[in-house]
Amino acid sequence: QTIRLADYTPYPFRIDHVELIFSLAPTATRVLSTLKVTPLQPGTDMRLDGEDLLLIRAAIDGAPVSVTPDATGLTVPAALLPDGPFTWECEVQIAPAENTALEGLYMSKGMYCTQCEAEGFRKITYYPDRPDVMAPFDVRILAAEDGSTPVLLSNGNPTGHGRWTDPWPKPAYLFALVAGDLVSVDDSFTTRSGRDIALRIWVRPGDEGKCAYAMDALKRSMRWDETEYGREYDLDIFQIVAVDDFNMGAMENKGLNIFNSKYVLASPETATDRDYELIEGIIAHEYFHNWTGNRITCRDWFQLCLKEGLTVFRDQQFSGDMRSHAVKRIDDVLMLRARQFREDAGPLAHPVRPEEYIEINNFYTATVYEKGAEVIGMLRTLIGPEAYRKGCDLYFDRHDGQACTIEDWIAVFEDATGRDLSQFKLWYSQAGTPRLDVAEAFSDGTYTLTLRQETPDTPGQTDKAPQVIPVTVGLLGRDGRERAPSTTLELTERTQSFRFDDLPERPVPSLLRGFSAPVILRHEVSRDDQLLLLAHDTDPFNKWEAGRSLAKSTLIAMVTEDTAPSEAFLDALTTVAGDGSLDPAFRALALALPSEDDLAQTLHASGVTPDPDAIHAARQSLTRAFAAHAEPTLSALYDTMAVPGPYTPDAKAAGRRALRGTALRLLSERDNGDRARAQFLSADNMTEQLAAFSALLIIGQGSAAVGTFYEQWHEDRLVMDKWFALQVSLAPPEKAVRACKALAAHADFDWKNPNRFRSTLGALTMNAAGFHNPSGEGYELLADWLIRLDPVNPQTAARMTTAFDSWRRYDTNRQRLIKMELERIAATPGLSRDVTEMVGRILAA
Ligand code: ARG
Ligand code: ZN
Repeated sequence: QTIRLADYTPYPFRIDHVELIFSLAPTATRVLSTLKVTPLQPGTDMRLDGEDLLLIRAAIDGAPVSVTPDATGLTVPAALLPDGPFTWECEVQIAPAENTALEGLYMSKGMYCTQCEAEGFRKITYYPDRPDVMAPFDVRILAAEDGSTPVLLSNGNPTGHGRWTDPWPKPAYLFALVAGDLVSVDDSFTTRSGRDIALRIWVRPGDEGKCAYAMDALKRSMRWDETEYGREYDLDIFQIVAVDDFNMGAMENKGLNIFNSKYVLASPETATDRDYELIEGIIAHEYFHNWTGNRITCRDWFQLCLKEGLTVFRDQQFSGDMRSHAVKRIDDVLMLRARQFREDAGPLAHPVRPEEYIEINNFYTATVYEKGAEVIGMLRTLIGPEAYRKGCDLYFDRHDGQACTIEDWIAVFEDATGRDLSQFKLWYSQAGTPRLDVAEAFSDGTYTLTLRQETPDTPGQTDKAPQVIPVTVGLLGRDGRERAPSTTLELTERTQSFRFDDLPERPVPSLLRGFSAPVILRHEVSRDDQLLLLAHDTDPFNKWEAGRSLAKSTLIAMVTEDTAPSEAFLDALTTVAGDGSLDPAFRALALALPSEDDLAQTLHASGVTPDPDAIHAARQSLTRAFAAHAEPTLSALYDTMAVPGPYTPDAKAAGRRALRGTALRLLSERDNGDRARAQFLSADNMTEQLAAFSALLIIGQGSAAVGTFYEQWHEDRLVMDKWFALQVSLAPPEKAVRACKALAAHADFDWKNPNRFRSTLGALTMNAAGFHNPSGEGYELLADWLIRLDPVNPQTAARMTTAFDSWRRYDTNRQRLIKMELERIAATPGLSRDVTEMVGRILAA
């Protein structure tokens, strides 16, 4: 059944107060809910959502009522309802221990926990489970009789053992409950207005030593939101719980964030620099939701980007401030292109604000999150930082306590700036990545840049209108000096020209600086100009981008024309590697080659059918050619980038380790893994141990390390996830499926744990040439597992079907094989709504 934005109607009742009493038991938890309700349109039936609930009793104003639940909820006929305010009471029974979907109330390692976004609350009790119904909650939790739940947590402020009051009206998706044998790491934060907030991170006994970094990131996030957005925390306590079984990254439940443990727990020995960075970013993200998501929420799920795009944008700004804006921007664009551009180019393309869905969980996508964040970045670029802040202030003032729409969001910026943003709003409704074609002319000192935009058709959308595209541009002279500093052009027409006067010679343009818009730039640039930009561009993003384009065109020529990489390119890359004036983290990014999937995407876009094996081979041969070419530089880097002293997770040290790890990987092609073997054994931190382990696996010298690593870490789940993932994702293409099968048969493979499932099956989909093995065995293996996982955890299964979304890129043989597997999945009896929708969309377009 399709849900449509156009069909929105407000809920005809107001919920003035919610009281919940939980009596915990693994297979017979009782939930008693008491709602204070005011009818807004007397005479209307009251519909409450509910799924998989056993109704024990229901009453209105204390008098029992007889209602009959159906598969999705229950309807209380208007005839049974008073015209004025009344009390609805109902008791249900649920079985958290049997809830493997990890949505609603479930159990993870003996601990009770919840995940209610988007529509999980209806698996806890009958309720209008929609974000525009907001109410204050009082919760009382009665401990399980088996004594397994000494700690009882919910949203808001504590009012006694197992009692919690949340005064801020909230939608049901922000409800949370956690109960179990947990220990906390405690700290406090004083807000700028002088209020003391208790901070607690709850973990399983034994993990207390791995919370310090998350706590530090939380305090920095709280301070940052005060200084950058004027937002202060609003309860007496803020808590985070780490859970091992979790479908997503984390969840912003009011005052009680619940996290996948991989985004909380860190120690130098067990977590990599990348893990630390993700923890910092996700802690910030969930904390920032307190204002952008919780105090101001979404009217309906079509508005998901209202909270997610904005909160991603905020966490990106935060990480940039904490670390390096240049490096953060490059990382974000890499991820945007890998995931969102891919999504936009295939059958799953949808607007940042979709207009229809079958299962909302399928729309927690890169488009809603990452493109949603890009749209806010463009808005800020167009109106400037001061006007952006003014608009945000107005948003918080005007809409605090409300459930809002994108129209509300746009209106505050129109009101703050007097600008008409109706064309800008197309970014929310038109799917697809705009193409930007560039033509140049130069005469009599005038340089003319002509830009033409075109957005391709996407499923259900054709003939797109021109959008507002901010194109930040600078001009360089032939000597590499900057002739015209960055300026932002506003492209609003389909085709538009921009003039730059008084130039002594034809300049080299640096276009789309900072990646000022999420578009695909189509600009013929000579290799010499690219080399000039790589050497001299003052915009760090475009400096990196120039190297990236060179690497891409080199690889594409290697694939399609079997050429060898040019000396000029290898020299330029070597120069960047050894350039001590550049941030090591930046240099590590500059040396990373485009991924195999990125190359496949690019080839397909230019009308060439990608051959995954040829792409893999070309990438490997460029890696080897560069390693040979730059060996002395890399060897020197390996020595000089060593970070002395004990491990610290700061960006500076992490950047040095990243560059050193890149050097190690390349050098392992020269020294048969000697340096990597030594580093693997001597490393005192996971970043360096894993860099060495990866290098050994890639050159096919990893078998001893596989055993050693297992012995060392088999008791640490999060480290073991890495062990599973690397063996599959880094296996040579012809061995990847076998490696994946072997690990799926390993005693430590726990397919019901989403992290472990992703580390094994998800890792196969990350090994492009392995997954796309022409025999089709990779496709078959993934389909087998998705069919098996679906009845247990449809959300995680549905997410992984996206591995098939690029199927039309490939040759007819691979297309036929993938289609067969998609059809086999689709024909599975009892298939979930989640997977049915995904497979249907992937097959349809
Ligand atoms: N709101 C969460 C976040 O952005 C994501 C939760 C998504 N969960 C889901 N089942 N779709 O951090
Ligand atoms: Zn979020």
